[in-house]
Order: sequence, then structure tokens, then C-alpha cells
Amino acid sequence: MLIAANPIPILNSYLNTYGDTLIMYIGGVRPTLLTRDPGLVQHILQKNHRNYPKSELSHGIARYLGHGLLTSEGSYWLQQRRLIQPGFHRQRVAGLVELMQAEINECLKPLKRQLAQEGGSTEVEVHRLMTTTAFRIIARSTFSTNLDNAKLERMSALLTAIQAFYVRSIRQPYLRPWLALRNQFRQHDELATELREMVRSYVRQRQQTDDSYDDLLQMLLDVRYEDTGAPMTEEQVVDEALILLVAGHETSANALSWMWYLLAQHPSVVAQMRADMTQVLCDRSAAFADLPNLGYSLQIVQETMRLYPPAWIVDRVAQEDDSYNGIRLPKGTMISAYLLGIHHAPSLWEDAEAFRPERFAPEQMKQQPPYAYIPFGGGPRLCIGNQFALTEMQLVLLEMLRRFDIDWVEQPPIQLQPLITLRPRQEIRLRFRSRS
Ligand code: HEM
Repeated sequence: MLIAANPIPILNSYLNTYGDTLIMYIGGVRPTLLTRDPGLVQHILQKNHRNYPKSELSHGIARYLGHGLLTSEGSYWLQQRRLIQPGFHRQRVAGLVELMQAEINECLKPLKRQLAQEGGSTEVEVHRLMTTTAFRIIARSTFSTNLDNAKLERMSALLTAIQAFYVRSIRQPYLRPWLALRNQFRQHDELATELREMVRSYVRQRQQTDDSYDDLLQMLLDVRYEDTGAPMTEEQVVDEALILLVAGHETSANALSWMWYLLAQHPSVVAQMRADMTQVLCDRSAAFADLPNLGYSLQIVQETMRLYPPAWIVDRVAQEDDSYNGIRLPKGTMISAYLLGIHHAPSLWEDAEAFRPERFAPEQMKQQPPYAYIPFGGGPRLCIGNQFALTEMQLVLLEMLRRFDIDWVEQPPIQLQPLITLRPRQEIRLRFRSRS
């Protein structure tokens, strides 16, 4: 099977016809095993993970984004993961909630102004708003300082351009000679250097100040290797900070955009959420300690990521011959764990296409087989930012529902655009009304 610009409907129809695991060809040249079998996915990500490093699809982007946690491998990855993991523990994330709330407030100010000018009701391009919001939250959580708008926009634009180019060069490998001829690789190397230098300037500014900070950058600067007691080099700090921006930006932005898309079509879910908010918060902003009492907000976020997992595919390659349940996995086999397919499989989910946050009520989830729900991946390379992301998304949900009513606007169904993350192909337009 050949992978086209919009592969998802094709992938789904093949899986429905031929079973949960099949061979496909990316760009018509490279055989890849695509699977929505949760058992096989657990096998490669967790049970036999040592045999399955990431493939060159993931490693290739290191050319532009450097060797941070997401792109590194083997003993270097393990050493970095051990070093950085404590910085993402629940309590550390709790400490970032104030920064997140402050940034959410900043992001909503222009919308509030617009609403005031337009008599309390306006149409909003939701994906654009959520992209800015998610980027500002991760940038602020990393660098604390109030970042200037122009620089933020430039950073975000650089990231988008680099990722789009990378996906194109992978999906359509036959274009590579043409891209090289047009100097595209060099131009994108230059964009990557510009991005890296921006991150480096924040790192240097921080090293030169005596003020104390409690953000992700400070965590990266403060950690020490257990064996030598040494800190990371500047290059390593830049690598890791850059990877946090990359990993934490589009993923959350897309999940949040899809969440509003779904909520605007399901007013009864919003009504249930508001009832819980009234009970727990009255009309104040949520603190970290409130979140366990607002479990439905987590369920909404979880169900959104079931239907629209931002990381829709996770790639690995077999290092040695292996097999799973009669499927041969010879050395060199590329494997794509098709998270989107698992999350929509009728064999795993009743009425799989329906948006029902109730599925994630704690007692319900216990009945799901392992690896039926894995928006953050699994095994040792499980997303390090999962707690951060869940917290951030719940805060955005609660803060926006507190301020606005959100109405559906008639529009054709929004299609999927599966790049590195699962974006909406068209802008999502919704009507926002101020709540008095
Ligand atoms: C909705 C939001 C997010 C989703 C769905 C998501 C999903 C994922 C997935 C599936 C992986 C594993 C990839 C693989 O195994 O090949 C991953 C890894 C990673 N994520 Fe996230 N992520 C999200 C948000 C974040 C945030 C906010 C951060 C940082 C603050 C972050 C940082 C990372 C890092 C550093 C890794 C690499 C971990 C490692 O390999 O050790 N992610 N993410």
C-alpha cells in the first residue's frame, strides 16, 4: 500500500479489510509494518523494548532539532531521562500551575477585548488561538520570563516550518533531489540554527542572572549527573530545552483544538462540566489542588485524545529478528504503532466514533485491555510531559468555560491532517460569547 498526502482513510480501510497488522510503503519505497494490535504495540514499546529503538523517521529530525530526549537513543537517552525525569514529577508540575494560569490569562486578553468591542459575541479561529496558547504555556513554563510576542511568534513559525519540511521530505522521498536542487535542505538548516540560537540566548541570559526561577530551564540547569556531579553542558541544555518546546507545543495545541470542536457539538457534556465547576470552584480559577475534584475535566481531555491522539503514530525498528503471535519481525523491520487506529478499533471501544467522556470514569477504565488507550505512548519512553500536558489542558478547559459560552457554527466536518502530530486540516470556527 502506498501512503498518500492524506493517509488515514486509506489506512483504516485496509486495516478493516485485512486485519490489525499489515505492510505498507511510505513514499512507495520503504516497507513498514503498521499495526493497531494493542498486544503487538505493548510488545515493541514495553515488553521487548530493548529490541525496538526508534527508527530513522524519529532520529532524522535531530538534524534540525538536536539530540534531546525525544530524538536520542541508547545509554545517552537513559542517562538524560534519569536526569530530567524528576523535573516532571507531579509536585514540580503543581509548581508550574501559576505560570500556566498567568499565561492562559494573557492569551485570552485579546479575545476578551474583541468580545467587548463586538457586543459580547464573536467568531473565533480556535486552532489558531489554541496554537498560540499552547506555545506560550510551554515557552513560559520553560523560560518563565514574559517573552516578547514577536520572538514567540518567530520561534513558533520556525518550528512549524521545520516540521512541515521534514514530514514532506520523509513522506515524499522521491522529491529529495528536487528539494536539494532548490537548496531547501540548506535553507531549513539555517532556520534550525536561528531557532537554536534563540533558545541559546535565553539559556545564556539565565546563566548571567542572580534572580531565582522555578521553571523547566532552571531545572535543566540545576540537575547534576549522579556519577560525576557535573551539570549538563550548554549544548545539552539547549538540546533539551528545544525538545521540550517541540514536544509540548503542537501536541497540546491540537488536542485542545479538537476538544473545543467536540465540546461545541456536545452541549450536554459542557453542561455537566459546568455543574461540577459550580460546585467545586463557584466562580474562581482552578488551583492544582482542585483538579482531583474536577475529574470530569480530565475525562473530557482523555476522550478527546482517544478520538484525536495528537501523536497518531509511534515508530520503531527491530534490531534483531523477533516474532509476536506468529507475526515475523525480522531485523530491520520498521514498525508504526498506529495509535489512532487502536483508539478507534470497534473491537476495543463500544460505539468507537462517539464522544463520550463517561468512558473514562475510573471504574470503566479498569475494564480496558492494556494498551487500548496510549495517547502518551508506553514503556520506558512514555511521554515525560504527560502530567504537565494533562494539567495544562484541564486548566485551559476550565478557565475558558469560566469566561465563555461556546457555540457550534455550521461548517463542513473538519478533516484530519496527519503530520508529525494530528492537526485539523481546516481552521475550526466557533462562536464565543462572554459570560456575564
Ligand atoms: C497532549 C500532549 C502530548 C502528547 C499527546 C504527547 C505524546 C507523546 C508520545 C506518544 C511520546 C512517545 C513517543 C515515542 O515513544 O516514540 C512522547 C514523548 C515525549 N514527550 Fe510528549 N506528548 C504531549 C505533551 C508533552 C509535553 C507538554 C511535553 C513537555 C513539557 C512533552 C515532552 C515529551 C518528551 C521530552 C518526550 C520524549 C521522552 C523520551 O523519549 O524519553 N510531551 N510524547
